[in-house]
Amino acid sequence: MDVVPVALGERSYDIVVGRGARHELARVVAEGVPSARRAAVVTQEGIGIEVDPGLPVDVFVVPDGEEAKSLAQVEALCRGFAAAGLSRADVVVAVGGGVVTDLAGFAAASFHRGTAYVNVATSLLAQVDAAIGGKTGVNIPEGKNLIGAFWQPRAVLCDTEALETLPAREWASGRGEVAKYALLGIESGRGGPPSADDPIEMQVAQCAAIKAAVVAGDEREGDRRMLLNYGHTLAHAIEASAFGDADADLRHGEAVAIGLIFAALLAERMGRIDEAAVEHHRRVVEAFDLDGHLPRGLNAEKLVSFMARDKKAQGDLTFVLDGPDGLEAIRGIDSADVVATLADMERMAPWNDGPF
Ligand SMILES: NC(=O)c1ccc[n+]([C@@H]2O[C@H](COP(=O)([O-])OP(=O)(O)OC[C@H]3O[C@@H](n4cnc5c(N)ncnc54)[C@H](O)[C@@H]3O)[C@@H](O)[C@H]2O)c1
Ligand SMILES: [Zn+2]
Repeated sequence: MDVVPVALGERSYDIVVGRGARHELARVVAEGVPSARRAAVVTQEGIGIEVDPGLPVDVFVVPDGEEAKSLAQVEALCRGFAAAGLSRADVVVAVGGGVVTDLAGFAAASFHRGTAYVNVATSLLAQVDAAIGGKTGVNIPEGKNLIGAFWQPRAVLCDTEALETLPAREWASGRGEVAKYALLGIESGRGGPPSADDPIEMQVAQCAAIKAAVVAGDEREGDRRMLLNYGHTLAHAIEASAFGDADADLRHGEAVAIGLIFAALLAERMGRIDEAAVEHHRRVVEAFDLDGHLPRGLNAEKLVSFMARDKKAQGDLTFVLDGPDGLEAIRGIDSADVVATLADMERMAPWNDGPF
């Protein structure tokens, strides 16, 4: 088992990565939440991963999909916890992907004004990203993740054996985030950037180490944590504008892959990086078996208006871009450059018979 520490003073915890990491649950609960006498396990039907916290357990099954991240589900969970006699000294265990860890984490943050929780991350995206860093929350019709809290878990278990049952599109989604880490230029301390050729355990540990380093330096999302949003400004706009459109139905990490190529092309247009650096982005995205092309039928103006509304943008167009000093959050970007870059991507798209 590889152990990646997240250094946050008295809120520090370990990320345990490896095949069978879920079997460490009873140990991390005993060490991280010694007061616990009961555990509430929150999971989803399709996940089917059994865990043993070493305590009497009540299991709460939440629905699948983004709709499950709702205040109604938080209320249902907290009522269930109360009915089961869970106290503030006990522990919530989230077993699932990012939907479960975000929802159960926020329920734990709210229950008795803060109850300990442990994440058993079962999707690749949760293992490399969502389960780490203490951002928890739910959606409201006005926007995703608009209600939430910073509440750090007591441990994160990334069991790569659990990934054996993960659907192919969810793998692709997770790989989009791994590709992002590969391009961040942040030392993992575990032998270079994650590579698609490495065993999955190593890739997860490298990504977890990079996320841990960024979070430790910036728990509450200043400029450094913003780097983790590389490729995400366009990705969020694609997700928002493709909402309900089955043709452009991309998983989050698939949209991130497109956003990474877009960010490279925009940086090149702005004279921040050269063609070779753009090629490097393309090679990384392709190595992770992802498609960086713009999907057909997206409207550039609509995308720009979604990007200006992105919560990271603070009113103007902000992108994390590569440059001579590595990645930086750049504010006040000219929308003409953004539109021109999207037009370039349209020209390069295979559905436009262009070269890529
Ligand atoms: N808190 C953060 O810092 C953070 C960061 C990134 C993403 N997120 C959130 O994470 C969510 C996305 O997470 P996700 O991509 O893991 O999606 P998800 O949680 O919806 O999981 C994807 C699907 O895979 C299933 N699944 C998960 N593990 C499985 C397994 N081992 N075997 C079979 N099926 C399995 C789930 O039931 C679900 O149907 C979004 O809501 C996003 O906002 C949060
Ligand atoms: Zn992401």
